[in-house]
Amino acid sequence: MNILVTGGAGYIGSHTIIELINAGHSVCVLDNLCNSSRESLQRVEQIAGQPVPFHRVDIRDRAGLEAVCSEQQFDACIHFAGLKAVGESVSLPWEYYENNINGTLILVDVLRKHGCKNIIFSSSATVYGDPSIIPITEACPKGTCTNPYGWTKWMIEQILTDLHTADNSWNIVLLRYFNPIGAHPSGLIGENPNGIPNNLMPYITQVAVGKLEKLHVFGNDYDTPDGTGVRDYIHVVDLARGHVAALKAIDQNCGVEIYNLGTGKGYSVLDMIRAFEEVNGVKIPYVIEGRRPGDIGTCYSNPGKAAEALGWKAEYGIKEMVRDAWNWQKKNPNGYE
Ligand code: NAD
Ligand code: UFG
Repeated sequence: MNILVTGGAGYIGSHTIIELINAGHSVCVLDNLCNSSRESLQRVEQIAGQPVPFHRVDIRDRAGLEAVCSEQQFDACIHFAGLKAVGESVSLPWEYYENNINGTLILVDVLRKHGCKNIIFSSSATVYGDPSIIPITEACPKGTCTNPYGWTKWMIEQILTDLHTADNSWNIVLLRYFNPIGAHPSGLIGENPNGIPNNLMPYITQVAVGKLEKLHVFGNDYDTPDGTGVRDYIHVVDLARGHVAALKAIDQNCGVEIYNLGTGKGYSVLDMIRAFEEVNGVKIPYVIEGRRPGDIGTCYSNPGKAAEALGWKAEYGIKEMVRDAWNWQKKNPNGYE
């Protein structure tokens, strides 16, 4: 298939392009580089051993999108482009709604005008809010999000679903990611957060490399085995392969389908510190602090639906995740700089 990949220069997009190429698909990448750099795509080209067509276009730029979609016919779009920092979205709600929602509206309008009504959207487990079922199945109702970023995912899911209700020639796959971590085993591409990381694994790797002094563990009074938050960490390469598998659903004219992409296993913050220390032989100093506002205690998936319908299952375990996260960080202490 010929796939338009929005946000393809970013963390998950760059890993997905490699898996798409490995599976024999052709790709065209579109990104405004607001949270990424051209360098990530050059590294992707090095891994894939072939050029990756790229357009520096903002998804809100209708004329720019028109130009790309007039040049070639796309069979599907994998839509990663968006702003994703939870804390920032609280202080910049307008910017998050405008970029993520307005951007998606313009993108889908241009796609349909050019006859591409197949879209795979990067959603998040955040749409479950504080989940009523653990492990979380896709039947678990959507909940209340605690920040504008989460609401943009929630609303875009609704917008895409409504598009299909009105016009059933759309095929929409909503992928709800759990917690992607790790990096390509080559160490050439990985997560490159701006400033101080918000997420656990990049914070740990920056402590390990000496850029940060210690990890702050946000709460040890949750109703979990050791009191710290439990999450479903998934290797980014497994997550990337989940997108290749999701193309099967598109191929089968799926209508609207939702899939959890997780491993089904929950690990606590202390489990993650221990795993990182044991596998990599690096000490992670930490202090226990109060809970982070908006956090929940436990979040992990039941990934059975994706296994059954798409034949996709996460293959990497926690050891490979912490190994590859560290391999990337130590080879690239300043990311892509
Ligand atoms: P990322 O920031 O590394 O990648 C997103 C890419 O989109 C960046 O390259 C950025 O430059 C680009 N972008 C943003 N706004 C754009 C616009 N208006 N036009 C064109 N390009 C634009 O983030 P990521 O971690 O790779 O996440 C990819 C997607 O997955 C995002 O939609 C994110 O919300 C979603 N997601 C991520 C996580 C996670 O933990 N990383 C979890 C759940 C969902
Ligand atoms: N944590 C710490 N210290 C830190 C960072 C995180 O103790 O410095 C803890 C959190 O409290 C939580 C766990 O580590 O218990 C994981 O936190 P992350 O910030 O890495 O991930 P979240 O589960 O909070 O959120 C992530 C993404 C969201 C996405 C969600 C579900 O950031 O965008 O997963 O997919 F919505």
